[in-house]
Amino acid sequence: MPLLEWTREYSVGSEKMDNEHKMLFSIINDLADHVQQGEGNVALPYAFTQMKAYSIYHFASEESMLDKLNYAELDIQKKEHAAFIERINLLEKDFEQMRMGTIDSVITFLKSWWTAHILREDKKYAGFIK
Ligand SMILES: [Fe+2]
Repeated sequence: MPLLEWTREYSVGSEKMDNEHKMLFSIINDLADHVQQGEGNVALPYAFTQMKAYSIYHFASEESMLDKLNYAELDIQKKEHAAFIERINLLEKDFEQMRMGTIDSVITFLKSWWTAHILREDKKYAGFIK
């Protein structure tokens, strides 16, 4: 079973956003799979690169959609998105300088950040999508 399974409860009312969230889940699942196969140290740098590139793409696409909807809480979204990028950059730097705790803590962070953000913030815009 994958670590993260996308179910209807994660739906935010936009097929495009749902698909992008599914892609983010699969990046996290791939990393968790590699860790289980003992390939975590090789997979982690790649996962950082992939996660950063795709989340930057996804945040821009989500923010532009919300901007078009004149979404009232866009600023909260922008702040959370920026904080995520900052955090992932720090985790990557820690890893490169061997100051990192464990790969498990990176996976736990990614899993809890994305599930909480989608369920707490993103779902709020579901009602504004026609
Ligand atoms: Fe968001």
